[in-house]
Amino acid sequence: MLEEEAIEEEISEEVIEEAEEKTEELKLTDVPGIGPGIAAKLEAAGVYDLMGLAVMSPPALSDMAGVGEAVARKAIQAARGMMNLGFMDGMEFAKKREDVLHITTGSEELNNLLGGKGVETKAITEAYGAFGSGKTQLALTLAVNAQLPKEKGGANGKTVYIDTEGTFRPERIKQIAEAMGAVPEKVLKNILVARAFNSDHQILLLDKVNEMVKDGEPIRLMIIDSLTAHFRAEFAGRGQLADRQQKLNRYLHNLMKMTEQHNLAVFVTNQVMSNPAVMFGDPTTAIGGNILGHASTYRLYLRRGKAGSRVAKLIDSPNLPENECQFWLTEAGIKDEG
Ligand code: GTP
Ligand code: MG
Repeated sequence: MLEEEAIEEEISEEVIEEAEEKTEELKLTDVPGIGPGIAAKLEAAGVYDLMGLAVMSPPALSDMAGVGEAVARKAIQAARGMMNLGFMDGMEFAKKREDVLHITTGSEELNNLLGGKGVETKAITEAYGAFGSGKTQLALTLAVNAQLPKEKGGANGKTVYIDTEGTFRPERIKQIAEAMGAVPEKVLKNILVARAFNSDHQILLLDKVNEMVKDGEPIRLMIIDSLTAHFRAEFAGRGQLADRQQKLNRYLHNLMKMTEQHNLAVFVTNQVMSNPAVMFGDPTTAIGGNILGHASTYRLYLRRGKAGSRVAKLIDSPNLPENECQFWLTEAGIKDEG
């Protein structure tokens, strides 16, 4: 009897695995309504698979593929159905959350602001703020801490660091690593740095990261510092705003997909612009607007605080209270005290 149960379980696991493999193999052209011509257009616009299609809106697909909105809507619904997107029961949800890992920021207070243990995998954490507010310092600290064993607040993994501004500093990594008693060279070896020269290059680098993960690199954290600078510089005109947002949107969807697929924590930095419409309080707004707001699971607004400290505020989190905390930028990275 027990044996029978075991066999049954084995078989059902096989069935599940097979179904999963099938979804992996499904191509755009397997979706009803998507022929090779439309698929080519979608691929040219950066939509390569069912997930990319499933997260689109009918008007966007209609524009991109040159089909009517009704056709677009049907194709999107079909893609969603084929991917089993949508509702899952509580057990499934709990199981999905089981393998989420956390990476300490180095500050207990900042960890608590983010729900207790720092930044998490299967999520995008965004830090925005003015120059010198500590975005890059937080990124560098996380790149080191991701390597810590789980019981010490890390994810026991490597970091990919996409540097768009040339502000990655190996010497800072060494300082932070040394301060925690690690071998600096070893820590540096586990941080894979790429300089992105423009937004297309930045987008292309995601494919590289996907390849590295497939080749077995144990990457647990991906940093993009800064997420928006190239997009902002290249699409500067007023008339280009819609194009910029569309490109950024596509990029963010790919990022979201990667966090889930590879159990990856994504940490991105973002600039602010002053918003003249705000009369009282802090007149700064994050670049990228709502698109980024929806894509980021956690948004931190960083600013200078009293006596050289920094203040982090959690913005619009769906499951955590809006709150603030104080932290310090030190020789040893992010800390609770200066
Ligand atoms: P932008 O990229 O210019 O938008 O700014 P950012 O938010 O990335 O600022 P960043 O994280 O680079 O913060 C710079 C600040 O970090 C400096 O003004 C210093 O206060 C602090 N900092 C950098 N290195 C060290 C260090 O070695 N020791 C200490 N104590 N502070 C440091
Ligand atoms: Mg910076």
